[in-house]
Amino acid sequence: VGMGGLFNRKCRDARPCVSIHCNASLRKTQNPHEKKFSVAKNTDLKSVNTYPTINIMIATKTRYDELPYTCNAMPYAQPDRLATLALLFGMTPPSVQTSRVLEIGCCDGSNIIPTAYAFPEADILGIDLSAQDIAKGQAQIQALGLKNITLKHQNLLEVDDRFGQFDYIIAHGIYSWMSPEVQEKILHICKHHLRANGIAYVSYNTKPGWNMRNTLRDMMRYHTAAITEETARTEQSKALLEFLSDATAKGEDRYSQFVSAELNEFKQLPESFVCQEFINEENHPLYFHEFIERAKTQGLAYLGDAFLHTMLTGDFSPPIAEALQQFKGDLIHQEQMMDYLRNRHFRHTLLCHQDMPLTRSLSPDVIRLFHIASSLEPVANTASPAEQQFENEMGSLSSDQPLIQAAIRYLAEQWPQSVTFSELVKQAQQAVKAANDAQDDVQDESTLADMLLKTYSMGLIELQSNPAQFVTTISEKPEASPLARLQVKRSPKVTNLRCEWFTIKNQVCLYLLPYLDGKRDHAALLALLNDLLKKGQITLNVKHQETGEQLTLSDNNKREILSQLLNDALQKLAQVALLIN
Ligand SMILES: C[S@@+](CC[C@H](N)C(=O)[O-])C[C@H]1O[C@@H](n2cnc3c(N)ncnc32)[C@H](O)[C@@H]1O
Repeated sequence: VGMGGLFNRKCRDARPCVSIHCNASLRKTQNPHEKKFSVAKNTDLKSVNTYPTINIMIATKTRYDELPYTCNAMPYAQPDRLATLALLFGMTPPSVQTSRVLEIGCCDGSNIIPTAYAFPEADILGIDLSAQDIAKGQAQIQALGLKNITLKHQNLLEVDDRFGQFDYIIAHGIYSWMSPEVQEKILHICKHHLRANGIAYVSYNTKPGWNMRNTLRDMMRYHTAAITEETARTEQSKALLEFLSDATAKGEDRYSQFVSAELNEFKQLPESFVCQEFINEENHPLYFHEFIERAKTQGLAYLGDAFLHTMLTGDFSPPIAEALQQFKGDLIHQEQMMDYLRNRHFRHTLLCHQDMPLTRSLSPDVIRLFHIASSLEPVANTASPAEQQFENEMGSLSSDQPLIQAAIRYLAEQWPQSVTFSELVKQAQQAVKAANDAQDDVQDESTLADMLLKTYSMGLIELQSNPAQFVTTISEKPEASPLARLQVKRSPKVTNLRCEWFTIKNQVCLYLLPYLDGKRDHAALLALLNDLLKKGQITLNVKHQETGEQLTLSDNNKREILSQLLNDALQKLAQVALLIN
């Protein structure tokens, strides 16, 4: 831990080198909703000081029923991610494939339904206080015919011994938004229902990021205090966000810049999210060290963060990273200092039992335990011809070592599939030998393992213990993920087999997806596209690939153009891990 700092330096020409650069801001945003900022007309002065009381003990209608929370699958809150981090830190985690998993506050099961689908022998349970969300999730489970997952409409305060023990416990987006009593119970469940080598995941709003964000929350709660109707209040908050954003966008003073930067993250998010963060009575961000103290009181220990790179100093400049090394012996202190420096506002903390022995120095050998996936792509380079640069949306890496270059190229060809370390070594060595640049095999392997660990430590590549099952080749009768096929009937937002949630923008992909049931061959799919065209549901704007000339669709070229359209759409779906079998 702490090794990442070396990798911000650019290397000298003569030595073999790897340099890795991390991008700071990666979040993509959606289109803003237009809402006018106004003073609420329905201000009822009598109700100014009477906030609607929410009694979480009554499991009837909750605020999440009033304004359903948009939930989705999260790769970082999946048992496989928890197992990967546990393996890195020397634990022997429970087999994910046969694990018993509990998600507390599972909403409509969006995060665990893909887990149940991916691991048919696992036994998954989700509980939530919102009857409406649970019913929605149950309908989806039934439609998918999943037998290994149960969603229960239940207050987490009622979890008792009858629930038994779990290998993985997930509590995402709930802890810091609850009363102290419920918060204590969440950690109690993580301790008392976790098997000896189990791992719990708890995410929460954290300080210092939320110290500053609280100014916005205060402002919003102040402005909307008189509005009693929840939807109107949320709408007014969104409008206020827009107003503030406009008011501060061009300001050069520090306060405007701070408000503007904070707002950029929030103003385009769903209303339920804004409501949860800024309006709800309960939002109690806490420092990382405070959370760890509370976990300790329950008999739990800090295992790590779901994002390893946040535990390391690699994104700081070398002098800062070096200064942070003085806290090396006290991981909690070091991470807390990094939170101050990064102004962190959200954490995904993994916990294990207090007596669990952990290894804190990461050895490159550990890479052999995992499957590796990387979206790093070669980019045209730079000063030194021997040095090849690779980049993805998380950052970049450059190396003048043929073996490393060959390995990253091979991973790029395989993406989004992952490969074992031994396969990667074999393929990279073959590529180097083919280019007449034979290397010492033993040294090659360790160089590669070292580079992969460092690259993973910077968040640029993925390690997986149980690689997701999907295909990137197109079969005669293509079949898409049943979950995505179900989801796309209602919305263009789907979950892929890597548990990522995203919007499909390509109209042909959107149209085809529900029909990719493994029973229709290419001819049948072409007939569907043709039908779509006839009904005027799609219009084609086709240009010649080489000349750019506009093409008119005729009986002569229609079949060829539609075939290409179909192939392109299938390739796109394969590339985003939506095809199976
Ligand atoms: C902000 S949402 C998070 C949902 C989901 N985990 C996610 O991150 O997308 C919080 C969820 O916790 C549920 N919840 C709140 N209090 C609860 C309680 N006492 N017992 C069980 N679930 C509760 C809500 O109904 C809601 O679905």
